[in-house]
Amino acid sequence: MAIVSNPSKPMSNIQKIKGFNDLFGADSAAYTRMENTAREVFSRYGFEELRTPILERTELFARSIGEETDVVSKEMYTFDDRKGRSLTLRPEATAGVVRAYIEAKAEQTKPVAKYFTTGPMFRYERPQKGRQRQFHQINAEILGASEPGADAELMLMLHRFLNELGLKNVRFEINSLGCAECRPAYHQALRDYLDGLDSDSLCPDCQRRKESNPLRVLDCKVPACKEQVAGAPKISDHLDDACREHFSAVLAVLDEAGLAYEINPMLVRGLDYYQRTTFEVVSGEIGAQSAVAGGGRYDGLVKGLGGPAVPGLGFACGMERLFMLLPESEPSGLDFYVAVLVPEASRRGMLMAEELRAAGFRGECAYASGSLKSRLRQANRLNARFCLMLGPDELAKGTVTVKDLASGEQASLAQADLADHLHKHTTT
Ligand code: HAM
Repeated sequence: MAIVSNPSKPMSNIQKIKGFNDLFGADSAAYTRMENTAREVFSRYGFEELRTPILERTELFARSIGEETDVVSKEMYTFDDRKGRSLTLRPEATAGVVRAYIEAKAEQTKPVAKYFTTGPMFRYERPQKGRQRQFHQINAEILGASEPGADAELMLMLHRFLNELGLKNVRFEINSLGCAECRPAYHQALRDYLDGLDSDSLCPDCQRRKESNPLRVLDCKVPACKEQVAGAPKISDHLDDACREHFSAVLAVLDEAGLAYEINPMLVRGLDYYQRTTFEVVSGEIGAQSAVAGGGRYDGLVKGLGGPAVPGLGFACGMERLFMLLPESEPSGLDFYVAVLVPEASRRGMLMAEELRAAGFRGECAYASGSLKSRLRQANRLNARFCLMLGPDELAKGTVTVKDLASGEQASLAQADLADHLHKHTTT
């Protein structure tokens, strides 16, 4: 495809794509804080960071997330590369992490591998509050653990992470989806129930899904379908003994650890790879898109993607939704602002700022000289603690006038004593 620009047309502003956002200063800092908190908390549980590509072969997502899911059938950014290979911008991180794990043959060196990843994901959904087309996830995966303790520990880690971010009023919802052994009988019970409904009471997608993948009908967003499935048989009544025991063992650890949860038998999640434990963290404070995090166990996925028969489980948090719930944080300011009052002071001001940065202080120097009033206004705008004034007098004497913008106090000192002075006053 040629990239066309028409020079005879007047230039119009190029705007960002719908559903994609820019993150400036304080917002970006909040995202960094979320990532750093995750890094710190997850490392206490033995997780290592993994960065996988944003672009993967389309087949990876079709085979793992499932052809019938909304994500794969309607929401992926898919295109052919220059050699005609179908590629997709990752709609989630789990598939890529599992692909990387298989490709690296990590099971040979790590009986249990724990990875976390952060970064942008892409889904062509209808943008609304808390729902973007490019959004960011913090994602954690455990590969190689089948024991219920792993499910419980993962949820405890998620809870700790949310707690350390200062999030209040979030709720854990949990369910078990059974396994490859007990799911077929449940599917049949669900199909029988759905077959008993009026033939036009389900949306056309669900008419099809009820044969190919009936669990997906329980997750349909169409209000009429939601209404119809309210009386559907529950998976919890169809779990086999092993799945039931696994689920009770997970809940027993959570109970003992004091993590509050609700069992939601309708929680089937929007991706096909789940088996046994599934969970979501929801908030009543962020509108219709209330799921802050979601995850669960996916024991068949590694094998399904061509790897060894290794169990897996994980979760992802949506950073845009976490962001809406973060407590206000203090705006971070500068330690100093150098107010250059005459052009001849510019060079000295620059060098003074460099010396202070070398000593570890954060600050800026005005590029142009200006009046004292305008420079002080700028120092306040930048939320600087000290305004360092350099005029002709100061230049001649090798001094600097220091105004503490917190207390209003002003002092004249030798430029050589400046770093010591700031040190003494910023640590008290
Ligand atoms: P998910 O439920 O599709 O699961 O997404 C996890 C979280 O990502 C959601 O709870 C939500 O907070 C956020 N999210 C999803 N879509 C959007 C969007 N369009 N805009 C803003 N936020 C969004 C997964 O992605 C699984 N890979 C989680 C997982 C990891 N399961 C096992 N391991």
